[in-house]
Amino acid sequence: MLTRPFGATTREVVVIGQGTWRMGESRSHANDEVAALRLGLDLGMTHIDTAEMYADGGAERVVAEAIAGRRREVFLATKVLPHNAAYADTIRACEGSLKRLGTDYVDLYLLHWWSTRHPIEDTMRAMVELVRRGLVRYVGVSNFDVEQMRAAKAALGAVPLACNQMLYHLRDRTIERDVLPWCERNRVAVVGYTPLARGGFMRSAVAAVAKRHGVTPRQVALNYLTRRKALFTIPKASRPEHIRENAAAAEFTPSRADLAAIDAEFPA
Ligand SMILES: NC(=O)c1ccc[n+]([C@@H]2O[C@H](COP(=O)([O-])OP(=O)(O)OC[C@H]3O[C@@H](n4cnc5c(N)ncnc54)[C@H](OP(=O)(O)O)[C@@H]3O)[C@@H](O)[C@H]2O)c1
Repeated sequence: MLTRPFGATTREVVVIGQGTWRMGESRSHANDEVAALRLGLDLGMTHIDTAEMYADGGAERVVAEAIAGRRREVFLATKVLPHNAAYADTIRACEGSLKRLGTDYVDLYLLHWWSTRHPIEDTMRAMVELVRRGLVRYVGVSNFDVEQMRAAKAALGAVPLACNQMLYHLRDRTIERDVLPWCERNRVAVVGYTPLARGGFMRSAVAAVAKRHGVTPRQVALNYLTRRKALFTIPKASRPEHIRENAAAAEFTPSRADLAAIDAEFPA
């Protein structure tokens, strides 16, 4: 699995990880979800993204089972909800996530989206404290525009802003306008979410590229979405055939002509 440095950190992270939204919602699916994440880990998708929000902590419990006995392999990310983003609540939320995740640290802790209620300075001060205590390795944000990233970065002081997790798929390339260029200039990783949204690649330039390389259209999409050094992606999959497909998506190199054909059909 292809890895690259994660923003300004020294940590090498796989370009294709695993999302967990909609996991942990029903006990009857939990065993399959645990098996899915473990298969993903076996295939090298060691960045696991979750959040206290997903299934009210249920997704974090599924992740706990999946990573039991193999914590060191995993680059584990979770998120605090904006309504928990006051200083003391952020610390408490992180402790709650750690308990549900069955671990004593997360690799990455994100503010899920901008809080209109709590000043960013308070949340980031809590993040710095969590890093100081060793409960969190790296700090990030999600769904932040450039102004909001600037404010978070300033509030973090010497602690780097490691990433911004943003919506990014072929039919929504909004981040390429200003968020991605700013992140590239400031060595902030961009983790794209919902990379497979709205499909529809079967009869497109993407399908033609897939045919040329003997891969699937979704593999082309994931590969394209990680084509720049700042980019990472976190597809969610529960079905073993989906996991295998996603895990192999970085294993080919599209030509410049391939990229140009995709750009022409799915413009930024
Ligand atoms: N920060 C945020 O605000 C935010 C927002 C949304 C999502 N996220 C994160 O990003 C992750 C990914 O986004 P997402 O879950 O919204 O969407 P996604 O990963 O684009 O799509 C997930 C759906 O695609 C299916 N799928 C996965 N691989 C496939 C394949 N190879 N072929 C066909 N279908 C495939 C899955 O089916 P099966 O499950 O049946 O395999 C599932 O129904 C989330 O799980 C979450 O961790 C973050």
